[in-house]
Formats: sequence, C-alpha cells, structure tokens
Amino acid sequence: MRDGEISQAVVRRLPRYYRYLGELLENNVERISSGDLSKRMKVTASQIRQDLNNFGGFGQQGYGYNVKYLYTEIGKILGLEEDHSMIIIGAGNLGQALANYAAFEKRGFQLKGLFDINPELEGKKIRGVPICMMSELKGFIQDNRVEIAALTIPKEQAVKVANMLVDNGVRGIWNFAHVDLNLPANIIVENVHLSESLMRLSYNICRYKEEHK
Ligand code: NAI
Repeated sequence: MRDGEISQAVVRRLPRYYRYLGELLENNVERISSGDLSKRMKVTASQIRQDLNNFGGFGQQGYGYNVKYLYTEIGKILGLEEDHSMIIIGAGNLGQALANYAAFEKRGFQLKGLFDINPELEGKKIRGVPICMMSELKGFIQDNRVEIAALTIPKEQAVKVANMLVDNGVRGIWNFAHVDLNLPANIIVENVHLSESLMRLSYNICRYKEEHK
C-alpha cells in the first residue's frame, strides 16, 4: 500500500465508507456492487471505484465488493485495528460530553483520563474515567503511553498546553479550541469546529431559499 500518496480528500471519505460498510455488515450483507454502494452513499460509482483503487481495488469484476473484507481493510488503513490511548484536556462541558461518548472504545480509542485545573473536579469520574489535575499529566502520559489528546480548553490556553503535550510525547491532537496550533510537522492535528459545520448548513439553507423563491 502506498499510504504516502493517498490524498487527504480520499482520507476524509474513508470513515464514511467504513460506517456504511459497518451497517451493511450488521445487516448480514456479504457483498455489494459499487453501483449499490453508490446509491446508498449518494456518491458516484466511479468515485467509489477511484477511491478504493488507491488501495489496490478490493473489488472483483462481476462480484462487487466483499463487505467484511473491505470493512476490515479500510479499518486497517484508518489505523483502527490497533488501540489508541487517549486523554481529554479540559473536563468542562465539551470534555465531559466527549468522555460520555462510549463508542470511541468500539473503534479502539481508549480514554485513559481527563485533565483539568479546577480542583473542584478532582477525583470525579466520567463513565468510570477519572478527572485528574494537570500537575499529574507528565507522568500519566508516559505511564499510559498516551498517543492522542483532545483539547477542550479555552483557546487562550490551548497553544501552551498543546506544546506541553507534544514535549511529553503526545503524537496527535484532536483540537476543539478555536485556535491554530502551529505544531511541528511530525505532530498530527485534527481540528474540529462544529460552528464551521453549522455555517455551512446556514449557507446551504440560504442558497436553497434563493433558488426556490
Ligand atoms: P468549559 O468552560 O465548560 O470547560 C473548559 C474547561 O477547561 C474548564 O473545566 C476549565 O477549568 C478547563 N481549563 C481551563 N484552562 C485549562 C488548562 N490550562 N488546563 C486544563 N484545563 C483547563 O468550556 P466548554 O464549553 O467545554 O468549551 C471548551 C472549549 O471548547 C472552548 O475553547 C470552546 O470554545 C471550545 N468549543 C469548541 C467546539 C468546537 O466545535 N470546536 C464546540 C464547543 C466548545
């Protein structure tokens, strides 16, 4: 496989393929043609073939795709076959909401702890996962081989804390703070901004209204 050459546009689409294939598996569907997958996903069949050809295809002429095989292979490409140890920095509204979401574990993301500076939160548990104080962070990252940190703290604190996480060996930041982190190139940052998604929704509502006046 030539991971290095896969475009980010394809990588962005893979989780969606993974989700659809997972649903097919749950419904005991063993194989599917690119045409059927295309109808379900509302993506053109040629786009599907093109995307999956990046990884050597997986499909067979006249047979379609073996759902379980394709699901497993995409899971491997997404790195979901290995466990990822994760922490959440900022145990406020958003941090606790994320911690309450149990499906992460299903995908191999093991939430090890939440961290905060508010002493009132110390010792509290969210879905069995403890909230610890930032003073314990360094040792915790090493002891638990933490790979990913979700940042759910105010943006004014985010850059400093992100650098500290990186200095202590965290490889990936799931950044919810509304600030660009500008970390070294070997650190992977995935920014999540719900408000941007909402603005896209607003744009499309406005466009629809314009077109249907
Ligand atoms: P919140 O005020 O409920 O929680 C923030 C928590 O961070 C507090 O518990 C606070 O004690 C803690 N904190 C502050 N400085 C810290 C530090 N240096 N180290 C560790 N913990 C620290 O706020 P909420 O609503 O949970 O939002 C958190 C952040 O997420 C904000 O920056 C907000 O703008 C952002 N946000 C982003 C969204 C997105 O879609 N990207 C959606 C909602 C919020």
